[in-house]
Order: sequence, then structure tokens, then C-alpha cells
Amino acid sequence: MKAIAEAPSKVIITGEHFVVHGAWALAAAIPRKSRVEVSKSDRLRVSSDRFRGANHPALRAIARVVVAMSKEFSFSPSLTVAVSSQVPEGSGLGSSASTMVALSSSLSRLHSLRLSLDEVIRFSMIGEGQIHGRPSGIDSTVCARGGVILFTPGTSPKQVRLSRPRSLVVCHSGITRSTRRQINRVSGVKEMFPSLFAGLTESASEVSLMAADLLKKDDMKGLGRLLNFNHAVLSTLGVSNRALDRLVDLLLSLGCYGAKLTGAGGGGSVLAVAPEGKEKSIISGLKARGFDAFIAGIPVKGVESWLER
Ligand code: PMV
Repeated sequence: MKAIAEAPSKVIITGEHFVVHGAWALAAAIPRKSRVEVSKSDRLRVSSDRFRGANHPALRAIARVVVAMSKEFSFSPSLTVAVSSQVPEGSGLGSSASTMVALSSSLSRLHSLRLSLDEVIRFSMIGEGQIHGRPSGIDSTVCARGGVILFTPGTSPKQVRLSRPRSLVVCHSGITRSTRRQINRVSGVKEMFPSLFAGLTESASEVSLMAADLLKKDDMKGLGRLLNFNHAVLSTLGVSNRALDRLVDLLLSLGCYGAKLTGAGGGGSVLAVAPEGKEKSIISGLKARGFDAFIAGIPVKGVESWLER
């Protein structure tokens, strides 16, 4: 008997980094998934098609979540855990959160624990904390709950209901980087300019609340302008770079309403909003230049799990 769970990945639409310091951020689950299969075994074995090398931090974080849950719920940690993912690591699309959420959900299913989504998120955060240091929890929340979510640490996340399905354009820069290092870089800016940073954090909250409103009203042009604004602010923090700025410019020149880095920056991915019907030609333009780009339809469901013989 094995338990399987699949969790979506995510894009942060607005408010990344500032969310770590208490701002509202807006994020959406996207259809690229991570899948975890767990079954009983004679010892703990973790394998992955993404996280390679026995000492990979994600594999160690997976083992830590297994041990933490086994202690809390008194089951044996001797398990086979197999991870596969459609999400490139270090791409700003929440590969680790989507894996950790699928992991805690699959363990809950295998041992009939019936964990609530809040508990699935709590256990996934043990792994996320080990990998990223001090994550806000937005990635795990969105990968577990799905949909489009307004999030700020310490309060209940709010689902943003769209009047109809929409498409976002996501393009990987091809550069991988560490979220932990990017978070530390931003904390350095906060230490150096505390009052300026407080103002930017407040403004980031305002941007996210406005972005949620525009998305609800289906005003993609307005949302695009906010993405451009948010990218400029993230650049002032030092989390963009020339490659990301060039990619943003390219997306705008291909006709997008707006574009910005998504996630921790320093590499990873860029998110854009395009006029309806133009998404496919924009993706072709990106692919022709060698980028891994795709259309992410939203909203998508959160984590799902089931048993198989
Ligand atoms: O790049 P990612 O997928 O690791 O996204 C991190 C988002 C941050 O806001 C930078 C950190 C966080 O935990 O909120």
C-alpha cells in the first residue's frame, strides 16, 4: 500500500520579500506539480528526480519532516519516500514548498491522520525552515490551499475569488539561486535603512491589496501596471539583476501589460500579465529566444492525496 499526494507550485503576484517582514502578499497556485509517494519500508529511504546527491538540503529537510511527524503521531519513520516534480529547483516557483506540502499530506494519508490543511502547512514549514531559514509561510499556504491567496504572516489567509479563469505568463530566467541568500540580502537593506524599509513594506501591502482587487475585477491592464511598479521596488532592494531586468523588458516588448520577478529573485522566474489571446504568441517569442516559458491557468486546486495498492 502506498500513499500519493500532489501539490501545485506557485507564483507570487506581488509582495514577495516584504511579506517576510509583515506585508500582505498576493500569490496563486499554478498547475506545475510536485508528487510524493510514501510506503512502509525497513529504513528511511528518500529519492528524488529533482534533488540529487545524498546530502542535498531538500532531501535532509524531507527526512526531518518525516522524523518530526513520526514522533508526533507515533509511527515508524522507516519509509520509502519518492519525490518527483515538474518544478525546477531554485526557480522561484515554490519547488520545495510544493514538495513539503505533498510530503506531509501523503504521510497523513498513509497513516490515516486526517490532518487539516493548517497542520499539513505546519509540518511542511519544518522542511521549509530548514531549507530557507526564515520563510514567511506564503509558499506552503498557497501550495496546500490552491487558488489565489492574500497572505500576511499570523492571520488567516484570504482566498481571492476570480470572476473567471485567467492565464498568467511565467518564464524561467535559466538562473538558479538560493532563497535563503536573497532573504538575507533584503534583511541587510532593512537593517541599513529601517524607516525607509518600513515605508516600502507598507506600500507593498497596499500594492497587494490593490492587485487582489484588480484581479477580482478582471482588470488585467491595471494589474500589469502594478507588476511593473512592484518590480521597480524589488530592484531597489537589490533582488533583481540585469538578466531579470532584460527579461522583464523583453516581456513588455512582446506586448505584456506588465512583468516582474516572482519569488526571491536573483534569478528564478519572471511573471507577466498579457492581453487575453496573446499569451501563446508571447510564449513562442520567449521559446524562440531559448527560454523555458509556459502559460499558467489560474485558479488551480491545492494539495490532493489518495491511497494506491
Ligand atoms: O523564490 P521562492 O519560491 O523561494 O519564494 C520566496 C518568497 C519570499 O517572499 C522571498 C520568501 C518568503 O518566504 O516569503
